[in-house]
Amino acid sequence: MDMKSRFQLLDRKIAEALQGGGAERIASQHGKGKLTARERIHLLLDEGSFQETGQLVTHRSTNFGLDKQHFLGDGVVTGYGTINGRTVFVFSQDFTVLGGSLAEAHAEKICKVMDLAMQNGAPVIGLNDSGGARIQEGVVSLGGYADIFHRNVMASGVVPQISAIMGPCAGGAVYSPALTDFVLMVEHTSYMFVTGPNVVKTVTHETVSSEELGGASTHASKSGVAHFTAPDEFDAIDQLRRLVGYMPNNCEERPPMLPYEPGNELRPELDAILPENPNQPYDIRQVMNAVIDPDSSMEVHADYARNMVIGFARVAGEVVGCVANQPAVLAGVLDIDASLKAARFVRFCDAFNIPLLVFVDVPGFLPGTEQEWRGIINHGAKLLYAFSEATVPRISVITRKAYGGAYDVMNSKHIGCDINFAWPAAEIAVMGAKGAAEIIFRNEIKNAKDPEATLTAKEGEYKERFANPYEAAARGYIDEVIHPHDTRRKVIEALRMLRNKARTLPRKKHGNIPL
Ligand code: HXC
Repeated sequence: MDMKSRFQLLDRKIAEALQGGGAERIASQHGKGKLTARERIHLLLDEGSFQETGQLVTHRSTNFGLDKQHFLGDGVVTGYGTINGRTVFVFSQDFTVLGGSLAEAHAEKICKVMDLAMQNGAPVIGLNDSGGARIQEGVVSLGGYADIFHRNVMASGVVPQISAIMGPCAGGAVYSPALTDFVLMVEHTSYMFVTGPNVVKTVTHETVSSEELGGASTHASKSGVAHFTAPDEFDAIDQLRRLVGYMPNNCEERPPMLPYEPGNELRPELDAILPENPNQPYDIRQVMNAVIDPDSSMEVHADYARNMVIGFARVAGEVVGCVANQPAVLAGVLDIDASLKAARFVRFCDAFNIPLLVFVDVPGFLPGTEQEWRGIINHGAKLLYAFSEATVPRISVITRKAYGGAYDVMNSKHIGCDINFAWPAAEIAVMGAKGAAEIIFRNEIKNAKDPEATLTAKEGEYKERFANPYEAAARGYIDEVIHPHDTRRKVIEALRMLRNKARTLPRKKHGNIPL
């Protein structure tokens, strides 16, 4: 073969690989409102930055007619490129090739980019669109999945891992996303379930649609499996690009700083945010938004456990992870879902050198059989564990209530918070004044001529003594009681002071978080 023919052969192979499953299947993919694997990658990465690996890989199976069905690339497009100039590794499953199903060669390609990502310290983004294990290839598909799962675990806490679900994702295919740091689902075109509606019908006799069982809104609001949802794939890819911007490339680095021009950092609107009546709700997002840089936030798990608000933001250009009780939902109480939501986020931030900024307004843990029988003790302990273990810079602002065990759990001084602020209306106490008065003055109230008036008087007495930040400040549990309007300035100064914080954990193989 002469040189020209060799070049032409290469060009023909590349052209064949770019076709995926062919024009008809690409049209069908578009007809479902979905982009192709390559279109997604090109939108995700900076223009012209994508470098493909394994474009000419094919499967080696001869089972069930596969010997006649070879597709260059084997149903997954893999490689690397940049997002805003920073290297990321990607794999994008191609539903037009054998339904994006995964078997030996397909899995090997994904493993190769994961290995490169680990060795070169850069995030991995998976765009999932697959019918699961390639049925014709049998057990090698299972092996392929497990090879990926193992790498997901090894990479956890070393490089950020993000999964976008852009099509069906069933069976073993859901476990790789579940092991990654963040899951984003596209509304109405993506599904995640361990077993689909047909199996559910056979086993439990429940009739349920794919959407109801494992669609984006189900996982974003009920199960918590999805951290983000997007109305379409364009928006999904936009979100992925933004999300990566809050993360360092790996656990040895810090997230990228943005330039910051110091200005007037006082926020007078914060002085008017708390209602006079401490039992009235307000939206903690208003507090957060006044403290962080304008339009710098990305909320995580916005529709799940809404009594806790978590998300990324920037303060004076520096990335922070915000964790906040939300008094506008269930009075900001800590329950199982809120504890789990915050605990996992705290661990992500700690793993990737993202300082934690915590806003506290919490009446306590949610009482009741439902919570106790589902194990609020263990789940609440996860949040306690996550905060206690976090060595990143940590700042707390108690805006109002910090009662009981929830005070301890929500990034208190005792479990390693660096700088604890409280607003003047903060109430740091074992419990609410009324409940406290009812217990400690029970006999006095019972025997009083006017029990109602006595209770009110005793409640006032307790409130006077404990429903303030000064008892805690006197003991140094609070570093500074601040005016609300000064919060942003104080947080900026604290973050600056903590920039070189170095704290290490005792030597151990690993801890034993109450899973
Ligand atoms: C091989 C598959 C496939 C699979 C789909 N295809 N899934 N080929 N293995 N797992 C093929 C189809 O045969 C079809 O080929 C093409 O992909 C498109 O599929 P359609 O069914 O036409 O598409 P759609 O109607 O959109 O339905 C998509 C789907 C459905 C919901 C994903 O295909 C489906 O239910 N597939 C099987 C899902 C499944 O049971 N997977 C195994 C899970 S168990 P043609 O040539 O006809 O167009 C598992 C175990 C792993 O994953 C455990 C690891 C620990």
